[in-house]
Amino acid sequence: MKKYNVAVIGATGAVGEELFRVMEELDFPVENIIPLASAKSFGTYIEYKGKEIGVQVLSENSFKENSVDIAFFSAGGSISAKYAKYAVESGAVVIDNTSHFRSDDDIPLVVPEVNPEDIELWTNKGIIANPNCSTIQMVLSLKPLDELYGIKRVDVSTYQAVSGAGKAGMKELFTQMQDLLTFNLSDSEIEAFKHQIVNNVIPAVDVAMDNSFTKEEMKMINETRKILHKDIAVAATCVRVPVLRSHSESITVTFEDDVEVDVEEVREALERFENVEVIDDLKNDSYPMPIISTDTDITYVGRLRKDLYSNNMLHYFNVADQVRVGAATNSIRIALKWIELVESK
Ligand code: A2P
Repeated sequence: MKKYNVAVIGATGAVGEELFRVMEELDFPVENIIPLASAKSFGTYIEYKGKEIGVQVLSENSFKENSVDIAFFSAGGSISAKYAKYAVESGAVVIDNTSHFRSDDDIPLVVPEVNPEDIELWTNKGIIANPNCSTIQMVLSLKPLDELYGIKRVDVSTYQAVSGAGKAGMKELFTQMQDLLTFNLSDSEIEAFKHQIVNNVIPAVDVAMDNSFTKEEMKMINETRKILHKDIAVAATCVRVPVLRSHSESITVTFEDDVEVDVEEVREALERFENVEVIDDLKNDSYPMPIISTDTDITYVGRLRKDLYSNNMLHYFNVADQVRVGAATNSIRIALKWIELVESK
């Protein structure tokens, strides 16, 4: 198998570090690793397969100089906006983890288990977008349900971990936990979030939009429709909770009018779907939780139940490690499918 020069932009961040771990675990065909970050990280190292590799400062020339084949961008939308074109110009495929390119009709937005066929559109602009983390874990469970019954509408409330705000988010929860226990909370810094996050939930993730939804909620709405290629009605309420890692979601699906939900059929369809597992034994206190999904590549689904009033409605709960399933692992799975595609030509 051919080997590739792989750049990670944002190599010192939460997702960047996870990308290296997932690449190692999946034995990604790496020739050279090129870790890129800001000048702040110059002189630091990342570890890959037992070797220390020096972090380089990102510049317009980073891609050409290092003959990069695959560039994973995970350093924020403004960095992708500025630098992705240099990677593409140098001949690399860009797999972008930010929201910058996701709504561009010419750029595929891919969850490999759900819409792998879209990867071939990478030739349009040399870029493949990795969807929003909450969207990825939701569509992984929606796809088999849509195939089973046909979805009309989705209502979702999220319980999003602080790791969605990168290392800064995790640090802020840690610090505030310590400050809470030592009665110093009034002096605690509030920077990564708009409000104190320890001992609190914040019903707003990302910025406010004019339609009274937040940007995170609009990402879930628009990206779900783009990935599933369907005009499904979606309403989302995104909430930040003081969990370190793994997002949870409470989801209600409304199917076509004539559907009569059979929970056993639903369970089987979910169990058959790649990288989805069902944990659903309420009487024995068994259901998906962040402590189960953290550090795994699986989306766990449970609390399956038919609505008490409408035959065509299903309620369930889903959790996934959003740094992996919602970012790093999804990106690597995209890259592996991309390799399969270009090598088959
Ligand atoms: P650095 O650590 O050098 O600032 P997180 O998502 O955990 O907050 O991480 C963000 C990542 O994006 C880090 O690796 C960070 O590098 C990187 N980054 C931030 N700003 C820049 C920049 N101007 N150029 C390159 N990388 C950047």
